[in-house]
Amino acid sequence: MQSRHLIDLCDLTTEEWEELTTLACDIRENPERYAHECDGKIMATLFYEPSTRTQMSFQTAMLRLGGRVIGFDDPNNSSVSKGESLKDTVRVVSGYADLITMRHPMAGAAKVASMYSRVPVINAGDGGHLHPSQTLTDLVTLRNEKGRFDDLCIGMCGDLKNGRTVHSLIKTMSRFPGNSFVLISTPSLRIPLYVRDQLIKSGCRFEEADSLADAIDRLDVLYMTRIQKERFATLEEYHEQSGVYILDAEKMKAAKEDLVVMHPLPRVDEITVEVDDDPRAKYFEQTEYGLYARMALIMTMLKKTDKQLATLPIGSLHACGNPNCITNRERYVPRVFRRESDMLVCDYCDEHTLEP
Ligand code: NCD
Repeated sequence: MQSRHLIDLCDLTTEEWEELTTLACDIRENPERYAHECDGKIMATLFYEPSTRTQMSFQTAMLRLGGRVIGFDDPNNSSVSKGESLKDTVRVVSGYADLITMRHPMAGAAKVASMYSRVPVINAGDGGHLHPSQTLTDLVTLRNEKGRFDDLCIGMCGDLKNGRTVHSLIKTMSRFPGNSFVLISTPSLRIPLYVRDQLIKSGCRFEEADSLADAIDRLDVLYMTRIQKERFATLEEYHEQSGVYILDAEKMKAAKEDLVVMHPLPRVDEITVEVDDDPRAKYFEQTEYGLYARMALIMTMLKKTDKQLATLPIGSLHACGNPNCITNRERYVPRVFRRESDMLVCDYCDEHTLEP
């Protein structure tokens, strides 16, 4: 892997995805061979946002590799509650641990952490932006359950605007030839501009749809997601969007025999429990693949020996227009934009901002 950190799965090459998923499959087949791979190593899990699977699977992955784990899952129990900056926390923790896994409610937070860390940082979810280790999990699931990453008609359904797993997965799958997407959501929860741009650049076919029932018979993969309650400004707005898409046994009747149904979990009400017994439902298997994906990731990241701090970029005077961007909370972070046609795009959260 070229980069020392994992912020966006698309920073890696398709060959590196291949290597990681191959390693994950080998670990799954021969776990005993890897039981001492990380002896003496320490991973810190800094979780500023709730998590069950991601945090526990990262922790289990490290323990199964022979390493140890430190960290917090409630920032109120750490110095963050006293007002410590992300920069200071990360700088200190990178003196204790060999690897940092971080989840944070603001977009771009893991990237900021990587700028101040002397050890590799893995993004375990940054706000509604990206979730690369979930996408690696999804790749391992597809490899095992579908046998390929290309020529798939992939349905993504639910909160496509705020779902970070959705953004990472679309960006990743759009790199493989022959894939097409059916993006099923209400008009207000469509994919963000930076994901749309990526789809257009990749030349992938995609359509936006309102109805799951109308689309299901064409799909090879159906990726269901919950409506991301915590990203809505008010409960009222959330209730307007919740309960719209429900996958049930009746809809499954119209689906292909070899459809693979995935979900990053947690599920709220978007898949009825009766679907769990359908052999095409693979979301619980997916959680197990996540363990092996993360073991492969930890092993690979710990091979990075470069402990140099990154050189900080020169910041712009312009501010990012996204209130959920980390640069609007951690004010010392140099603001960096890239130009795409007549727009500025924030390097941390990827949101488009008009020139000032
Ligand atoms: C997802 C997340 O946190 O983004 N869960 C996970 O990591 N498995 C999906 C979600 O919370 O809806």
